[in-house]
Amino acid sequence: MVKVLTVIASVTATIKSLISGGSPFAGFTALWPTNSDGKYIIQAEGIRMAFTNRNGGAPTNVWINDTNGNEVDIILGLDKVEDYDNYLGYLGGTIGRVAGHISNASFQYDGETYFTSANGNNGTTTYNGGEKGWERMTLDVGSLTSNSITFVVFDRAGGNGFPGNSGSSLAHSLYPYEWRISYGVTPTRTSKPVPINLSHKTYWNLDGFRPGSETIEEHRLHLPFSGLRLEEDEHKIPTGDIKGNKMRSPYDFWSSARLLAAGLARKATYDDLFLVTRPQPWEVESKPVASLSSARSGITVELYTDQEAVRLVTWDGGPNSNLTLKEGQGGKPVQKNAAISMQMMDWPDALNHPEWQRDKHILFGPDRLMTTFSKFKFSVNGRPK
Ligand SMILES: *[C@@H]1O[C@H](CO)[C@@H](O)[C@H](O)[C@H]1NC(C)=O
Ligand SMILES: *[C@@H]1O[C@H](CO)[C@@H](O)[C@H](O)[C@H]1NC(C)=O
Ligand SMILES: *[C@@H]1O[C@H](CO)[C@@H](O)[C@H](O)[C@H]1NC(C)=O
Ligand SMILES: *[C@@H]1O[C@H](CO)[C@@H](O)[C@H](O)[C@H]1NC(C)=O
Ligand SMILES: *[C@@H]1O[C@H](CO)[C@@H](O)[C@H](O)[C@H]1NC(C)=O
Repeated sequence: MVKVLTVIASVTATIKSLISGGSPFAGFTALWPTNSDGKYIIQAEGIRMAFTNRNGGAPTNVWINDTNGNEVDIILGLDKVEDYDNYLGYLGGTIGRVAGHISNASFQYDGETYFTSANGNNGTTTYNGGEKGWERMTLDVGSLTSNSITFVVFDRAGGNGFPGNSGSSLAHSLYPYEWRISYGVTPTRTSKPVPINLSHKTYWNLDGFRPGSETIEEHRLHLPFSGLRLEEDEHKIPTGDIKGNKMRSPYDFWSSARLLAAGLARKATYDDLFLVTRPQPWEVESKPVASLSSARSGITVELYTDQEAVRLVTWDGGPNSNLTLKEGQGGKPVQKNAAISMQMMDWPDALNHPEWQRDKHILFGPDRLMTTFSKFKFSVNGRPK
């Protein structure tokens, strides 16, 4: 009976939302079961994850068995889903509609100037989609199966200053030892292409932050296609120029897998944009653009993506990063460099750098969908490979 009422309530909510022009999935969200913490659980061989639909549909836990067969939870997140509402940092939810900074909080396109929500760098840039960007939204859940969850977003024209509506489906699926992410965005009510750039910042510590592994300094990182990076100013706005990552410099992760401690000894934290310059064909499914591993847990995570840049960020302990580990991770304050995120993306602020000629990578619609695919593939002591 309760179930029938829930179904009726969700159908009603859907109809109401359709009449008012809202998301057709609004009512469905309540139908999908959560665990007692309000999280959605999905799993496949070797991997189990939990998600919340808050903060852009954030992954809250990734559990993998380490070399000793002990389950470790290897990402930063929050225990209580309600706490996501007050959390103003970025913890893995989808960042959109345009991730990264847009300099001057505006861009010119096809003879028009668009002014976007000025929420970054003290009101001088648009950061991660603006004040009400997707990682500040609670999303609808379109579907949930034992190994997948799909969030849906309806972002209206003018929201945060961007032109055109966009309807999006953000799908996470687990396969044996794999987490696959596919984003699809359909721009609507626009006669022109609109800028779209989605990303997410999931912070990893492959030892599960255990005592002795409070930081990722002993992790090794390999970025085989990243001999170049974008030069950025002190506000992380690209200057337009490209730099070479000299061998054995703190930016050299291309020549071999290198211990993060070596770079961190010379450069307190990382927040840098590495370009992915690989020859065609890309072999998206077989050649990772990033590989992070820890000898202690034996866990390796490889990032596969069709995107042409990876931003590396180590947890910096700055404003908005006042965070404690989850209880299962020991519950202590998160230390500087406790974790690292590897964000796949297109080139930052490309809207304002026509000289890079990247319009086809950042502008989509009305007849061209934006789709992007990436996966994190795990192995423990090299198995499975
Ligand atoms: C870890 O191993 C145990 C025992 O084999 C198993 O029950 C559990 O599902 C594994 N955890 C994951 C995340 O695969
Ligand atoms: C941003 O604004 C500054 C100051 O008004 C101006 O000098 C600069 O050219 C602008 N940059 C872009 C990319 O529009
Ligand atoms: C931010 O902007 C305000 C108002 O323009 C100014 O008073 C303040 O000094 C700025 N802060 C920083 C850190 O630039
Ligand atoms: C950090 O967060 C805790 C718990 O939410 C809070 O009690 C504390 O005041 C915060 N500290 C700072 C410096 O914001
Ligand atoms: C895409 O998003 C990333 C992630 O935040 C960001 O660094 C980059 O500036 C964005 N790219 C464009 C073209 O705006």
